[in-house]
Formats: sequence, structure tokens, C-alpha cells
Amino acid sequence: MKVDVLLGLQWGDEGKGKIVDVLTPGYDVVARFQGGPNAGHTLEFNGEKYVLRSIPSGIFQGDKVNIIGNGVVLDPALFKAEAEALVKAGHDLPGKLYISKKAHLILPTHRFLDAAREAAKGDARVGTTGRGIGPAYTDKVGRDGLRVGDLLHGFEAKYAAAKARHERLLASLGFSYDLREVEREWMEGVDYLKRFRLVDGEHFINRLIDEGRGVLAEGAQGTMLDVDFGSYPFVTSSNTICAGACTGLGVAPGRIGQVFGIFKAYCTRVGSGPFPTELKDATGDALCEIGHEFGSVTGRRRRCGWLDLVALRYAIRLNGVTSLFMMKGDVLDTFDTIKVCVAYRVDGEETTEFPFDLQESNIEPVYVELPGWKTPLTRVTSEDEFPEELNNYLTFLEEELSVPIRIVSVGADREQTIKRYLD
Ligand code: GDP
Ligand code: IMO
Ligand code: MG
Repeated sequence: MKVDVLLGLQWGDEGKGKIVDVLTPGYDVVARFQGGPNAGHTLEFNGEKYVLRSIPSGIFQGDKVNIIGNGVVLDPALFKAEAEALVKAGHDLPGKLYISKKAHLILPTHRFLDAAREAAKGDARVGTTGRGIGPAYTDKVGRDGLRVGDLLHGFEAKYAAAKARHERLLASLGFSYDLREVEREWMEGVDYLKRFRLVDGEHFINRLIDEGRGVLAEGAQGTMLDVDFGSYPFVTSSNTICAGACTGLGVAPGRIGQVFGIFKAYCTRVGSGPFPTELKDATGDALCEIGHEFGSVTGRRRRCGWLDLVALRYAIRLNGVTSLFMMKGDVLDTFDTIKVCVAYRVDGEETTEFPFDLQESNIEPVYVELPGWKTPLTRVTSEDEFPEELNNYLTFLEEELSVPIRIVSVGADREQTIKRYLD
């Protein structure tokens, strides 16, 4: 069996958690391959709502195997809080969650370093989630990181050395902080983490694939936040694209099967950085209010704008997307007309190629305007009930993007998911 990958094509929060949960019954294994507790993946079913940060979104669908891969950075304190809440709600987590020994740990001092670096950047700050993601990945690439497997071998000395190094860095940045309480909670998290099955993730997952098990790899963040191809430096610190599933799980490129690219029917972004189709007007406010666009991790208001096909085509190309899933279609229900950006005008010249520097270039989106459907979609149960204007909107996007849109999501609940082109 091949590994199918589901990932975000925009700036994150596309609805990945919801769709992983919907697709999980068709798989045996769900595996997170990058990111950490900067992610907030929301799932709604049976009137309940869960937000997952480090735990894969397959955890609610029976006894599937769930894996936290080596590409993830894990904060034991936040993991404990997240896992305990699920155990309390009756889910047998230790029985079905496996964690790669090669996943890197986010130390308490990484969180302070994240805050210190952001403070030092002033107006140029990235607007991170403050979870220590950047500093943890910096240590990984700088060959100074601590890994989950280190909890089992000589942990104390390694931790003390990393802490001392971080403290020197924090002092050099003039950052004041109080480590005691945070460190105490973190150490409790470390003890808790040791109760889970810590495995050689790359061997484990490849054995499952060899046995013919179906694997769904779950991305975090989105392509426009990828450290190589996103709107650098306003990005996260990992490879969010499909290639990240290979390095973040230890799966060879030839074992990747379908690539499911997920996008909102409009665009949002949290934190700083360029956003060509951003609407700083009443329409942007309406998208934010109707779509409840507030961060599931930090509660920050998400910036909103129209769908950007220049960025979307770029994301499809980088990921080799085989099917598209369009989320939050219902948020556009009341709009008379809907705009879609089909090209950028950069310093007067029109282009459909995503430019090197979104910051300095003088970018003006070129829009096409389509009629809205002015019909509530939230109760629609099949494609046959789609209003004509929605069908036209989908056809327009498929022609522009050359990839079929196989799911249209019309609400946050698991059930509000319309599959198209069913054989
Ligand atoms: P993720 O990080 O990609 O998993 O996405 P988030 O969970 O951060 O953000 C998506 C938000 O949209 C969550 O609050 C979901 O419950 C919600 N959501 C998902 N799909 C739909 C949809 O089709 N319609 C509406 N109205 N909300 C949705
Ligand atoms: P999910 O998986 C949306 C953004 C932050 C910031 C930048 C860097 O829920 O889609 P970081 O803390 O990673 O160093 O922050 O990336 N960001 C996200 N935005 N959804 C996410 O995850 C995000 N994870 C990070 O807002 O701009
Ligand atoms: Mg999210």
C-alpha cells in the first residue's frame, strides 16, 4: 500500500483536522509528519468539539494506529495536557498512539527563546504561536537537539547542557523569565510521555506499509508557511509540503500515493507577513465573523481575503496534488458576488507565477468576479442539491487549477462533508 498525504495549501487552518477525521475510516494508520503544538486541528462530531495540537486527528475513529513522526517537535507538558484531556473523555490513547524516538523535544527554554527572538525583531516579528517551534527546529538542524529517544538514555546530562546553553543565549538577549514552574510542568510531562510506546518510527511505519496497511499522513500548517517555499521569513520552521511527509516519517518518495490538497473557499492568515488578497475592509470583517476566523491555538483574529489562485497553483505544483478538497463553502453563502484572484500585477506586469519576494514587489491582485449562490449550504447532503452558482464556481476553479475538487465542506461537523465524483 502507498501512503496518502493530506496537507494544507494556504497559510494553515484550512480544516485539515476535520478532513483527516472524515477520511480515517478508510485507513489503518494516521501519522503526523511535521510541526508541533503550533498546530490546532479542530474536529466536531456528535455535538462535541476537540482541538488537537500534537496528536494525530485519527485518534477518534476506532482502534486505528496513530503515529507522531520524527519530523514533529513535541512539548511534553503540552502533550500531557492534550493527552490527559482525551483520556479523561474516555479515549484509550496509550493503546493506539506511537511516538517516534527521533521526534525532537521542545524544551521549556525554547519557549522563552521564541519570545525573546520575537521581541528582538520588533516590527519585523513573525507573529509566531510562541510555542518554541523555531528554536526547537533550530537546535535540530544545528545538531544540538534533544530527541524523544534521549529520555531513555542519559537524559539528565543532555538536558542540563541544553538548558545551560539556552540560558546563556537568553541572557545575551537580555530576556528575563522565570523557569521554575514551567520546568516543573515540563518534567511531569516527560514522566508522562515515557508511558507511551516510543518506537523507531521509520521501521514501524514501513513494516505497516509492507503488511499492506493503508496510511494517511497528516500535515500541519500549510504550504505558504513552508520554510523553503512559503512567504519567507514569515513562515514556520518545517517543510509543510508533501516532501516533508517523506523526511518526517522515513517513507521513501516512491511510497507516496494520493496527495490531498485542502483549501478554504477564501483565504486566511494568522501572524505577520505578506497576504496579497487580504481585505482590510467590511468584506474582510464579514469573512472573519461568518467563518469564526479566530486561531484555535492562540485565539488571535485571522486576517481574511479572497481566494488566491496564484498561490494555490504554486502549492498544487509543489505538492503534486491529485485531489482538491474545498472547505468552508458555507461561509460564502450570503455574498452577492465572490472574487477570485487569477493573477498578480507586479510593478505593472501581469504574472501567474508566484514571485520570489512578496514583500518588496508591488503586488496587485487581478480578480475575476463570480455570482454568489445566496443559498444556505449547511444542510445540503449531496452534490445534487448544490445551487447552480456553486457548481459554476467549482467548475471555474477546476479549470483554473486542473485538479478535481473531490470534497466540498459545508460546515464544521464531520457530517457536513459532500463527496463528489463518487464512483
Ligand atoms: P486545521 O488547522 O487545518 O485543522 O483547521 P482549524 O481547525 O485550525 O480551523 C478550521 C476551522 O474551521 C475550525 O474551527 C473548524 O471547526 C472549522 N471548519 C472546518 N470545516 C468547515 C466548514 O466547511 N465550514 C465551516 N463553517 N467551518 C468549518
Ligand atoms: P495549523 O496546523 C495557522 C503561523 C504563525 C506564524 C508562523 C510561525 O493549525 O494549520 P510558529 O509558531 O510555527 O513559529 O509560527 O506560522 N502558524 C500557523 N498558522 N495554522 C497553523 O497550524 C500554524 N502554525 C504556525 O501564526 O505566522
Ligand atoms: Mg489550525
